[in-house]
Amino acid sequence: MITLFGATGFTGRRVAQALDRAGLPYRLAGRSAERLAALSARLPARPAWLIADAHDPAPLFSPVPGGAPAGRPVVVNCAGPFTDLGEPVLRLAAMRGVHYLDINNELAYVYRMRSYDALARQTGAALVPACAFEVAISDCVVATLVRGGAAPLGALDIVYAYANPEGVISYGTRLSGLRTYATSWLTYRGGRWQGQWPGAATRRARLDGRLYGAVSFPSAEVVTVPAHAPVQSVQAWLAVDPFWARPLSALLAGASLLLRTPLGWLTALSFRRLAPPPPEHQRTAFRFALQVELEGRAPVIVRGVDPYALTAEIAAYAAGRLHAGGDQRGLLAPAQALDPAAFVGWLGGQGVTVQTG
Ligand SMILES: NC(=O)c1ccc[n+]([C@@H]2O[C@H](COP(=O)([O-])OP(=O)(O)OC[C@H]3O[C@@H](n4cnc5c(N)ncnc54)[C@H](OP(=O)(O)O)[C@@H]3O)[C@@H](O)[C@H]2O)c1
Repeated sequence: MITLFGATGFTGRRVAQALDRAGLPYRLAGRSAERLAALSARLPARPAWLIADAHDPAPLFSPVPGGAPAGRPVVVNCAGPFTDLGEPVLRLAAMRGVHYLDINNELAYVYRMRSYDALARQTGAALVPACAFEVAISDCVVATLVRGGAAPLGALDIVYAYANPEGVISYGTRLSGLRTYATSWLTYRGGRWQGQWPGAATRRARLDGRLYGAVSFPSAEVVTVPAHAPVQSVQAWLAVDPFWARPLSALLAGASLLLRTPLGWLTALSFRRLAPPPPEHQRTAFRFALQVELEGRAPVIVRGVDPYALTAEIAAYAAGRLHAGGDQRGLLAPAQALDPAAFVGWLGGQGVTVQTG
């Protein structure tokens, strides 16, 4: 049985639809009986639902009345920010030997997840962070470039460019962003993790024939990629107009410092009022391109639309793989939990193009 936590959130609802379309056995979990019942009634499978809070996640691991269907139990966590809400669910999954995956891209939280690796190996739980549109894709693309080779590799840069994100980003994503900038002062350089301010570096980047300025930002590849690829450094970059790169770099550094103070909490709270849910009709205008630049290799560029719909499909795909079983255990990067080449091939069916050179 796949238990979908945070099912009534903006992304959780889409993951429920994707699980339903995939014909997987699933149940919904969240805080509000009213919203869970309403969501269940709208889904063709009319899934069962249960109440659980991130601070008291035991119900997520309750037995299925009448017996569970065949396959490994899996908890899919969509209740964020994970920095604040993720650990109790993760801890219980690791303790009980239940597979866990989430859709987070909160770097410091993914780094913290490493402390559950040993326990999960003992109990047989697979813990897979970041099964979402950014990191699962870049992580698996890197794995297809490296193909399990053990020879030391050079620097890895991942450049993200977004078109029309205004007004389309969910409240949950914005809140997670604030928590990430407050906590994730981390990079991977010289073969080890080191402290680094968000926005600490700028560079130029050529993507789709256009010259951008790029600003470093915290992204979970910093933890996931070194787990399976012997790279020397990992850095994610946000592509912006060249004029704005240096001002944005200074702004990110200053804002990140501010976000660590009580003022940061007030800002996060005010977001609930300010951020309306993303309008459905605009979501397909939200395009992204990400360029994987591994030193000494031709760059790989990935293009797609509607990251939220894609995230939902990726989470359901990964849940299906974990549910089907195999002896995976411990903390696993998406590229370790999935078959990277098969996953990259599957992305083609989701409207995502992957092009080398
Ligand atoms: N990496 C990516 O590409 C990607 C893409 C999409 C989303 N995400 C992440 O996924 C998370 C959810 O995003 P969203 O767009 O769905 O935001 P959202 O609409 O605000 O949903 C947040 C979810 O968390 C639940 N929640 C909050 N506090 C809780 C608590 N104490 N106990 C149980 N559940 C709690 C909410 O429950 P209620 O429904 O009861 O309020 C809701 O289901 C965010 O962290 C976001 O960054 C990542």
